Amino acid sequence: MSTYNKLTPKLIEELRTIVGAGSVLVEDEKIEAYSHDETNAEEYGHMPDAVVLPQSAEQVSKVVKLANRELIPITPRGAGSGLSGGAIPEHGGIVISLEKMNRLLELDKANMVAVVEAGMVTNDLANAVQDEGLFFAGYPMSLQTCVIGGNIAENAGGGKAVKYGVTGRYVLGLEVVTPEGEIVELGGKLTKDVTGYDLKSVIVGSEGTLGIVTKAIIKLIGYPAARADLLVLFKTPKEAIDLVPVILSRGITPVSIEFMDRSCVITTCKYLNESLPYENAGAMLLIELDGTNPDQIEEDLIETGKLCESSGALNVYVAEDKNNMERIWNVRRNIAEAFKVYSPIQSLEDIVVPISHIPDMIPHLETLGKKYNVTIPCYGHAGDGNLHATLVKNPDSSMEEWHKNEKACLTELYAITASFGGKISGEHGIGIKRRGFLKDILAPGELHLMQALKKAWDPNNIMNPGKIFV
Ligand code: LAC
Ligand code: ZN
Repeated sequence: MSTYNKLTPKLIEELRTIVGAGSVLVEDEKIEAYSHDETNAEEYGHMPDAVVLPQSAEQVSKVVKLANRELIPITPRGAGSGLSGGAIPEHGGIVISLEKMNRLLELDKANMVAVVEAGMVTNDLANAVQDEGLFFAGYPMSLQTCVIGGNIAENAGGGKAVKYGVTGRYVLGLEVVTPEGEIVELGGKLTKDVTGYDLKSVIVGSEGTLGIVTKAIIKLIGYPAARADLLVLFKTPKEAIDLVPVILSRGITPVSIEFMDRSCVITTCKYLNESLPYENAGAMLLIELDGTNPDQIEEDLIETGKLCESSGALNVYVAEDKNNMERIWNVRRNIAEAFKVYSPIQSLEDIVVPISHIPDMIPHLETLGKKYNVTIPCYGHAGDGNLHATLVKNPDSSMEEWHKNEKACLTELYAITASFGGKISGEHGIGIKRRGFLKDILAPGELHLMQALKKAWDPNNIMNPGKIFV
């Protein structure tokens, strides 16, 4: 365990000289918002000593060099929309928030790339490039708030991964401030590049432990203007999930195949004051198709509808107009928020299994829920095996029982996941929340290589310490 120093008034003055007096926050009421992310603040939150809001990579570099010299922990932060505690300053010290570095620096249409600062909001980038007929396909569910740097740090997934993959696929180049404060450029506006190790891919998904992304070169593709969404109701979750490989093996690759069980639909509709036709359904799939050719989409739509019906779907609804699509997707996007309002004590999980094993997981969730006196609603990205099986505290249990049961239930859930060849996080990351379980899921050799990498890049262990590894 490393020992760190506290920020002294003299060092705070030095920070003010680096980033400007207005860009150093120290008052409790101003830094409180930086003490947590979207995980439970009471359980995981921790106040920083100060928050700095740099406006350039040079300023980030100077702050990191100061932190190394004085042995002060740094916590990089995007929008704070993470779900594993990655942006929480668990050891105090300095939070470096990239919120002021939010510009689109270049839209290079000739090379089909955008060059953006790390604090740019995902949706702002998506909208800016869409105006030019282009598409940014790395798309987490929290796109209205999350920022590109955070997405890169977590290698964020989301609802479009079935067809478009996750954030990392769109990262061609990065400007990174290393844990020792050097500014390095990795990759470039290149589709192919095997010039030495692929270090940008080491940064992608490193949860802010190997450096701070300040700038990214993002790959764009043509905007798929033709789109159709299907809302498909099933009697049971198993029937719904069994359909996934049927569609994929037919050669149709939807953008998304999202799964919601009955409790998710009911809770979210109530939260949004929305009504979807779910009365008799035990589960729903939301299937999105897109492409550049409307005729092809129409064909795929008809074929997918037929496959749904022959797989026992109760109803198949098609939304081809924007309003209805938005209504359906709004329900899906708000599930996590809705459960927070109705059941604030919970553990939002994102286990991932090979898709053929999703149906095998579902009965276990019910058994675990009964055994540990928790409710486990389940929704997620059925098309890529990434399931948000969420442990929700039952009202009749004490907090003491919840904490005990949460740990035991997660231990068992993760072991079952591993037995099907799965992993404990598909898109939210390890952070603080899952670090205690890493040794159970990774072989010692793999864990050792990861820790050796961290040690080599961050000899003073000041860059987001305590994340990923215990
Ligand atoms: C979602 C977030 C929780 O899929 O990952 O809604
Ligand atoms: Zn998700």
